[in-house]
This record gives sequence, structure tokens and C-alpha cells, in this order.
Amino acid sequence: MQRSLHSPKSSHTMERLPGVLLFFLAIFFSTTQAYEPLINHHIHLLRPQSGAGGSSVPGLSCLSWRLAVEVGNIINWKTVPAQCGSYVGHYMLGHQYRKDSKLITDVAWLYAKSLNLKKDGKNVWVFDIDETTLSNLPYFARQGFGTKAFNITAFNEWVLEGRAPALPESLQLYKKLLKLGVKVVFITGREEDQRSVTITNLRNVGYRTWEKLVLKGSAYSGKTSYEFKSAERAKLEKSGFRIIGNMGDQWSDILGASAGNRTFKLPDPLYYVS
Ligand SMILES: *[C@@H]1O[C@H](CO)[C@@H](O)[C@H](O)[C@H]1NC(C)=O
Ligand SMILES: *[C@@H]1O[C@H](CO)[C@@H](O)[C@H](O)[C@H]1NC(C)=O
Ligand SMILES: [Mg+2]
Repeated sequence: MQRSLHSPKSSHTMERLPGVLLFFLAIFFSTTQAYEPLINHHIHLLRPQSGAGGSSVPGLSCLSWRLAVEVGNIINWKTVPAQCGSYVGHYMLGHQYRKDSKLITDVAWLYAKSLNLKKDGKNVWVFDIDETTLSNLPYFARQGFGTKAFNITAFNEWVLEGRAPALPESLQLYKKLLKLGVKVVFITGREEDQRSVTITNLRNVGYRTWEKLVLKGSAYSGKTSYEFKSAERAKLEKSGFRIIGNMGDQWSDILGASAGNRTFKLPDPLYYVS
């Protein structure tokens, strides 16, 4: 008989003793005062006590709201519900936003490196900019985390400061993709007059090279982000590029024509862009 995990000298009685003890202890606790709390505890396990912000009942409904937003069940919303401002703030500034972002960029990297890519310089990864490669969290933190009506004037002032930090997870993915020989194309709803500040901002935080930076030109004024981005991706493909991956924080970044072989949706409970 093979007993490779045990010393041949160990006696059976000695081995069984702790098990027997545990058995009696279990009987003791399950038939005395521990019985009721045990049942309650099981019921409580089915009742999550907190959302990401550590709040109880409001946290729970805000988590449902955020989930519905992320999967695209709630669309065309203008502001974060007032009672969820604190929840969204905790989510964005706590660990969960970063953890969620990291899982997505990890999955994207596993996918990218698994591909047997032709080395012809035609493989492209499309990144959105705001809340994808750059973060406007310092701005939105001052604006109630999306609970205040979006103020385009104030937002553009912030953009023109050129001080948006990188989303660290996206920056890591960007660097790894470049090393893999994939070209990066940024397609952003930022307009042409923000080109130079956007370039400076990208370079300052570590995005040093790219194949194309496509901003929303006047030809697309009045068009949705979805229309603009679909059309620009189709142009990319027409010019011979293969979009192997496409990453954005809005569904309008990753739906539509020439979406890419795989798409990746980063979290964004701050605002909605159609
Ligand atoms: C929007 O932002 C601008 C610039 O900061 C400010 O002057 C204006 O009062 C804001 N508008 C509203 C409605 O808050
Ligand atoms: C991307 O999708 C096209 C069309 O389905 C397919 O021919 C191609 O092999 C895919 N490329 C990669 C890198 O998966
Ligand atoms: Mg974006």
C-alpha cells in the first residue's frame, strides 16, 4: 500500500485523534448556542451587506445601478443618481475600479499574446482616450462624481490643462502591445482643436508613440460618437489595418462597424456617451 504523504511510523490512532475531536466539537456546537447563529449566518450569506463603498442599503441599489449602466441596460442617462454620488466616489477612488480595470487589461493581454500575428505591421489595437488611456478622475472628483450635470465649458478647461493622469492598467497594456509589435491607434471624441494638448498630455504620462491619433473633426459635428468611431475604424480597415483589439469605456467605442476582433469595455460609472 502506498502512503507517500505519511511517515510509515505514524500510528493510525494518532492520525485519527484530531478528526475525532473535531467531530465531537462540531456536534457540541451544532446542538447548543452555535446552532441558531449558524443558520442565520447562512441566510445572511445570501444577503450581501455592502456595496463597494461599504454602505449598506443605498450601496446595494447603487451597485445594481452601476451594473445596469456597465452592461448597457441603462442608456442615455445624464447624471449619476444623487444618492449614488458617494458610492461612485468610493468605487472610483477605492480599490474596486482599479481591480476591475486590471482584470480587463489582463484578459486583453492574454488574448493579444495568444495570437499568431503576421509580422507585416498591419495589426492595430484601437484605444479610446478619456477614461480609457487618460483619466479625468481629478476633474470628476470635483464635480460630485457625475452627479452634477455635465458642464462642457468646465470640462474643456480641464482638458486644456493637459494634466489628466494615465489609467495605469491601460498604460501597461499599451506598452506590452507595442513590444508585441502591435500598432496603436487612438480614436477619441475630443475635437481637433484639442489635438496638441492631447498629444502633450499623452506623452507626459507615458504614451510616447502611436500610428494614428484620430480626433473628432468638423465633418462629424452633430454625429454621435458611435457614428464617428465606426466610420473611422472602417477607414482604418479599408487602408489595410487589421483591428485585433478595441478598448473603450463606452459601448459607443466598441459597437458598430469594424469593431475589431475582440472588444474590451472598461468601467465608467461617471457619464454616458452615445
Ligand atoms: C460651467 O463651467 C463654467 C466654467 O467653469 C462656469 O463659468 C459655469 O458657471 C458653469 N455652468 C454651470 C451651469 O454650472
Ligand atoms: C479577425 O477576424 C477575421 C474575420 O473574422 C479573421 O479572418 C481573422 O483571422 C481574425 N484575426 C485574428 C487575429 O484573430
Ligand atoms: Mg472614453
